[in-house]
Amino acid sequence: MNFSGLNTFNCATEIFFGCKSIQKIPDIISREHFKRVMIVCDEGIENAQILDRILEQVQKSGVECIVFSNIEANPSVTTVDAGMQVCTEFNPDVLIGLGGGSPIDVAKAIGVIATNGGSITDYEGIDKFENQSLPLLAIPTTAGTASEVTIFTVITDTQTEYKLTVGGRKLAARWAIVDPELTLTLPPKLTAATGLDALVHAIESYTSKMSYALTEALALESIRSISSSLRQAVYAGDNIQARVAMMYGSLVAGLAFNNTRLGNVHAMSHPLSAKYHVPHGIANSILLPYVMEFNLPACPEKFADIAKAMGENISTSQTLMENAYKAVNAVKQLSKDLKIPANFSDYNIDRRNIALMAKDAMKSGNILVNPRKTNIEDIKLLFEKTVGQSEPSFKNLESVQ
Ligand SMILES: NC(=O)c1ccc[n+]([C@@H]2O[C@H](COP(=O)([O-])OP(=O)(O)OC[C@H]3O[C@@H](n4cnc5c(N)ncnc54)[C@H](O)[C@@H]3O)[C@@H](O)[C@H]2O)c1
Ligand SMILES: [Fe+2]
Repeated sequence: MNFSGLNTFNCATEIFFGCKSIQKIPDIISREHFKRVMIVCDEGIENAQILDRILEQVQKSGVECIVFSNIEANPSVTTVDAGMQVCTEFNPDVLIGLGGGSPIDVAKAIGVIATNGGSITDYEGIDKFENQSLPLLAIPTTAGTASEVTIFTVITDTQTEYKLTVGGRKLAARWAIVDPELTLTLPPKLTAATGLDALVHAIESYTSKMSYALTEALALESIRSISSSLRQAVYAGDNIQARVAMMYGSLVAGLAFNNTRLGNVHAMSHPLSAKYHVPHGIANSILLPYVMEFNLPACPEKFADIAKAMGENISTSQTLMENAYKAVNAVKQLSKDLKIPANFSDYNIDRRNIALMAKDAMKSGNILVNPRKTNIEDIKLLFEKTVGQSEPSFKNLESVQ
């Protein structure tokens, strides 16, 4: 465990965690004397009737309310601009970001532009804007990104096919209502992808060069909680205990990585999502075992800890490397059980784009905190390994005949 140096732990958000915590919404609105509420969500949240449940709570306060729900996965700058137009016309005093990472990130981006002007593309990096953003209440509906407690918003510039990260304490949600019951409607495939994203957060935070005792404790707690509940959440989606454990695991991973940043998986997944629209959780879960194999020699002790947290038997009769490798195998088995593809062959990734994707990945601050020193050639090689068949495979040829 790392106790060296002076460690600072940041969390800018007041968190309400638990089933039925959405009932806190009217308290927050009246406590803060808010009068005009803008809810930012997406079509999936409307269809799952989650929006209705939130509106019911908001209307208890008798406030004016508007809904902006035209948001895609991996949301774009254009979507943020459209939301900003609604915000300018309605002039809310509080934003509610409701959904997975995509709507919460759009709400964060709108909040930044509302008080700082310009475009979200002006503020890439950390603390690149001056003013505190509009007050934001974040209500997650996936156990995945933990955007409800992080200081980041991730938006895609479709013109340059680039996913930019804007960060700073001043854009974090002021309140997070984390109600696991809201994830009961999340279908199995999305539960698997978003849940594995949360596991990647915990693993990358645990192995990050910036980790220290407090973040490491949270990351291991998250790995334990997610590993012991994700299969049940996917295959028995109405199991509320599994949903609670997943939401808890996602939240504590967020608290950890908010203070440590992430690693090569997230650096590499952003260009894949920007250029090939690979959903964030799927991109991360496919990349994870490859990046773990690359990182393992740099911190085998940490990998053995991860294996243990995932329920693997760590034997004193085996070498450190053997025990460490159990973490990679446990992740591979979990992905297999959840039917996550072993590579990106379904996404027809053009190998000629690897150099460009590697260049974009190297721009990410996550590369700098990855436990093994990484250069652009390493990233190219990792992409090469993960893209899968670019030529028709034997299996495909068989099916043609
Ligand atoms: N801000 C951060 O700190 C941070 C961290 C990691 C990832 N991200 C970003 O978050 C985005 C991904 O977010 P995500 O993985 O949560 O997915 P998402 O928000 O894109 O949602 C995926 C789909 O799930 C549906 N959905 C969500 N909750 C549901 C529910 N309870 N019931 C039924 N359907 C539901 C949505 O309607 C949508 O169709 C990416 O853009 C990623 O880059 C942000
Ligand atoms: Fe993520």
